[in-house]
Amino acid sequence: MTMQGKIFFGLLSVLILGCKGNDKPNEEKQDLRHSYVEQYRPQFHFTPEEKWMNDPNGLVYHEGIYHLFYQYYPEDIVWGPMHWGHATSKDLVHWEHQPIALYPDEHGLIFSGSAVVDKNNTSGFAKNGETPLVAVFTYHSMEGEKAGRMDFQTQGIAYSLDNGETWTKYDGNPVIGNSGIKDFRDPKVFWDEGSQKWVLVLVAGDNAKFYGSDNLKYWNLLSEFGREQGAHGGVWECPDLFPLQVDGSDETKWVLIISMNPGASNGGSGTQYFVGNFDGKTFISEQMEPKWLDFGTDNYAGVTYNNTPNGERIFIGWMSNWDYARDTPTQKWRSAMTVPRKLALKKREGDYLLANYPIPEVDGLATSILMEGFTVGAHQTESRRIEGLNQSSLLLTSGSKDFSITLKNKLGETVAMSMDSKKNQFALDRRNSGQVDFQEAFGNKIHIAPTHLLEGDSVEVKILVDQSSIEIFVNGGLLTMTEQLFPNAPFDTLIIENKDQKTEIEVSNVKKMESVWQ
Ligand code: FRU
Repeated sequence: MTMQGKIFFGLLSVLILGCKGNDKPNEEKQDLRHSYVEQYRPQFHFTPEEKWMNDPNGLVYHEGIYHLFYQYYPEDIVWGPMHWGHATSKDLVHWEHQPIALYPDEHGLIFSGSAVVDKNNTSGFAKNGETPLVAVFTYHSMEGEKAGRMDFQTQGIAYSLDNGETWTKYDGNPVIGNSGIKDFRDPKVFWDEGSQKWVLVLVAGDNAKFYGSDNLKYWNLLSEFGREQGAHGGVWECPDLFPLQVDGSDETKWVLIISMNPGASNGGSGTQYFVGNFDGKTFISEQMEPKWLDFGTDNYAGVTYNNTPNGERIFIGWMSNWDYARDTPTQKWRSAMTVPRKLALKKREGDYLLANYPIPEVDGLATSILMEGFTVGAHQTESRRIEGLNQSSLLLTSGSKDFSITLKNKLGETVAMSMDSKKNQFALDRRNSGQVDFQEAFGNKIHIAPTHLLEGDSVEVKILVDQSSIEIFVNGGLLTMTEQLFPNAPFDTLIIENKDQKTEIEVSNVKKMESVWQ
């Protein structure tokens, strides 16, 4: 079916199912615990049971529950008319699927956005003392786009008075119209303590725009940021803005996250960030050069949770890349989310760096030991057969910055990582990792990251391997690489080459990661 065909049928189902401005009535929840067994099905990452998913949306914690909404096309495993899929969790690792939360309507498809807990009912949506959850998203009008107009993306809101179970679109939508900006989307809203207002940041092609509101319905433009700063190799998407205390100090800085496609450091889609100050109106950063949140090619459109219990910044990204997202070799579903990661701001030689590292609940899944820890002597290479390596957690510490780590399978397919002190870089090579030629951009080059390590630093590498991904965190997430992998047989051999003449490498117990779906 052509794209137009898909959109037509998608919209038809909207008209039939999305009755009375309210969304689809509750479907029965399904027990999916037995069905997550296909080849490449991630075992400790979130995936929809079936069909296409992209960006995480509406990340919000409320009454003991973490909500994860996501860009979802329920009819196919390629992108199509967007809905908000929905899942909930008590611990951010075990998920329960929920009925689709938002369906396209007469204003358009439901693109990315955020959700807030309107504790004081500023929106007035609650009539009987409930606490409204309010979702803020982009409407994308296909008709407007096809007609060659520039104003086809607007912002709308919807609310839930039953803790996120069912959603009603606001009848005054759209709440932010479009004056003719082609790419105008992905609103992130949060309550700003300083100005005692709701603040919304969205992206407009090559810059971020900030808006303020008292009630989530009427928004005033406050300021803009970024035309001359950071990377501009592609369109800016999915912004986020939040304060973070610098580790080990009383200083608080504001971080602006901007996803961009294409033009990321290793090609295609990637996420940059700016560190600066925000006074309730204007975001100012002196940073001119881009900083990348993740140097792998598969962490995109990531944003953070609103309203976390103790104010932690928890981030989830979409584990794919628009260069090849539509072509990855899965059939029932397509693509996964990264593991949830805690963000931290670190100051290194006067420079602010945003670290991201798996939350402790992810470690909680690493239970049984697959292989006892071992030492790799100076200038030695150790190879270990580890059944279950393809769903495991590894931790390695090294006094030197010259070593390589390779995962291999019985077919000789490899994913090879190496740290190089002379170049001060970390490299990941998945060119021979299995199925790579479904799209040229997937396996055509080695991916490189600067290490940000200083003289005398020792190195700690944490690696999470799932059935079709690898996530690498160096020194607490100062350097991160997230990559999809599609080996033709499970990785079962770990090879560590210590290239240093003096120091040893310690490999901790290799642990199995429990499945969250079985
Ligand atoms: C990012 C993105 C967003 C948009 C959504 C559409 O991946 O392009 O900018 O809202 O996906 O699905």
